[in-house]
Amino acid sequence: RTVDGRGGVLLPGFVDLHTHVREPGREDTETIATGSAAAARGGYTAIFAMANTSPVADNAAITDLVWRIGQEVGLVDVHPVGAVTVGLEGRQLAEMGMMADGAAKVKLFSDDGKCVHDPVLMKRALEYSSGLGVLISQHSEDPRLTEGAVAHDGPTAARLGLAGWPRAAEESIVARDALLARDAGARVHVAHASTEGTVSLLRWAREQGIAITAEVTPHHLLLDDSRLETYDGVNRVNPPLREDRDKLALRAALAEGVIDCVATDHAPHAAQEKCCEFSQAKPGMLGLETALSVVVETMVRPGLLDWRGVARVMSERPAQIVGLDDQGRPIAVGEPGNLTVVDPDAEWTVEPDALASKSRNTPYAAMTLPGRVALTVLRGTVTAE
Ligand code: NCD
Ligand code: ZN
Ligand code: ZN
Repeated sequence: RTVDGRGGVLLPGFVDLHTHVREPGREDTETIATGSAAAARGGYTAIFAMANTSPVADNAAITDLVWRIGQEVGLVDVHPVGAVTVGLEGRQLAEMGMMADGAAKVKLFSDDGKCVHDPVLMKRALEYSSGLGVLISQHSEDPRLTEGAVAHDGPTAARLGLAGWPRAAEESIVARDALLARDAGARVHVAHASTEGTVSLLRWAREQGIAITAEVTPHHLLLDDSRLETYDGVNRVNPPLREDRDKLALRAALAEGVIDCVATDHAPHAAQEKCCEFSQAKPGMLGLETALSVVVETMVRPGLLDWRGVARVMSERPAQIVGLDDQGRPIAVGEPGNLTVVDPDAEWTVEPDALASKSRNTPYAAMTLPGRVALTVLRGTVTAE
């Protein structure tokens, strides 16, 4: 079969280092099948499925199961992320080596949603992971600084009476984990960087030669805490939407390469978990199907990234971080490759009911966004068009 991609921009298939598919445990909100369909529509050929499932992905039986279901679905490679502890708040290190050696060949490890609160445990997890892959720093839940917090700790939250989540909660843990990674000779990846201060810390850590990488979400590039005025639970997310200056610092850092890549933190939730009062809504928003368009809006249109740069932040750098050698690279003529064709001139209005995801919690409902994925190809087979 021949596909005519004329007028489109040809990019290597996108790689998402941070997706929540809710299987096993919350298949009412997302399954590996529906999450894969959403990923393919968003131009992705590989996603990394976070470990905060139920049960937690803290052993090779579960990580191999997730990998196998993903291969059966066949729309995108679903790479499981392994939890570093047994259970999300466990005190005991998980068998990371077993997960790395299994069919899924786990390359990324995280205690998703709960940073390893104990620095000694984090140090040991970094040491253990150093021969196996990359450890994701889920910095944003420093427990004492974020107790009860639901929104960015700034003037908007103060005015609206929402409990504030300070920048320092994130930055103190980013700094801690950079230093622990240095001492352990390990590689650490900072999940969803959300503040101007985190950007400074990343720049500093790189200058010290620390093996640190970082991602930013589409929503932290586009949205800020001015969205909270409506008290709509769809805008509740961890880490919280910050202020204008954070947004601009994150965009500049992504353009410069201080932040390596875009990762969606796609977090499906049921309608009844998001419709309630802001403080009661579960944190998290959808991201897979809108990521490219948000990157076009925030980075390409303002001239911060060209299409070469989009390939770098959506595909090449994330593939390099985890060592995926079949992703994010040039494809020889005749070779079945992973690729994405984008219509750069398309504009579309986001309709939640038209999404492939099983959940509807997109913050972009009714918003018109530029650029659209026209075609996704996984190993020579069309997975979305
Ligand atoms: C994540 C989720 O829903 O799994 N939510 C989010 O707001 N990012 C968990 C988390 O990272 O807190
Ligand atoms: Zn998180
Ligand atoms: Zn997450």
